[in-house]
Amino acid sequence: MRLDRLLAEAGFGSRSEVKKLIRKGAVKVKGEVVKDPSFKVDPERDEITVNGELVSYEKDYYLILNKPSGYITSTKDRELTVMELVSDLPRFQRLFPVGRLDKDAEGLLLMTTDGELAHRLTHPKWKVPKTYLVEVEGEVKEEELEPLRKGIKLKDFTAKPAEVELLEKGKESSKLLITIKEGKYHQVKRMFAAIGHPVKYLKRVKFGSIELGELPRGEYRHLTKEEVKRLKREVKLEP
Ligand code: URA
Repeated sequence: MRLDRLLAEAGFGSRSEVKKLIRKGAVKVKGEVVKDPSFKVDPERDEITVNGELVSYEKDYYLILNKPSGYITSTKDRELTVMELVSDLPRFQRLFPVGRLDKDAEGLLLMTTDGELAHRLTHPKWKVPKTYLVEVEGEVKEEELEPLRKGIKLKDFTAKPAEVELLEKGKESSKLLITIKEGKYHQVKRMFAAIGHPVKYLKRVKFGSIELGELPRGEYRHLTKEEVKRLKREVKLEP
């Protein structure tokens, strides 16, 4: 890989900015100053420094975004997409969202450049649990949740049994947590609509073992190495 490309991808500036850095003599490869931007390096092996700072190059990005409502989960659209919220990252063009949240939904959206992990996390075979906080219309009674817990027949498929917890209920609306291991189009909204309590608000709070926590709306954070390892283990990409 070219030295200038690696530095740009590792966040040291645009391609022309890093070329300037290199020509200025700020960059060393294995202890030697290299002034040629096209110099070939092996990002996995070569020790590279910029003004003495060790360059850490990760092959893939893994991050979670707290998606606000109003953004489309897609890499390209005529409307505002979630990519706007990560566009300060040097390699954001290679990122893509794992699974989908509706335009009006909020919460945890995993984004990565790792195609194999993304594929497994969304494949039904791996049954990755996803937890949503929902506010639904009307006062929900425990017994009304039975069909969701048993598996409910919808128009074109039967949703598998879900874990559901009633958190709060009032005359106007109720709050619940629901965990499903599938990800059909509008699945949670359709499940609650089917028991007569349409969803007014939906936020994903957990994906596999990864929790949204206190991440502010509209912001993202990189997963820790430990979190990435855990996710990979959940879909058997790591022992
Ligand atoms: N279920 C839905 O209905 N919408 C989402 O965005 C996610 C799950």
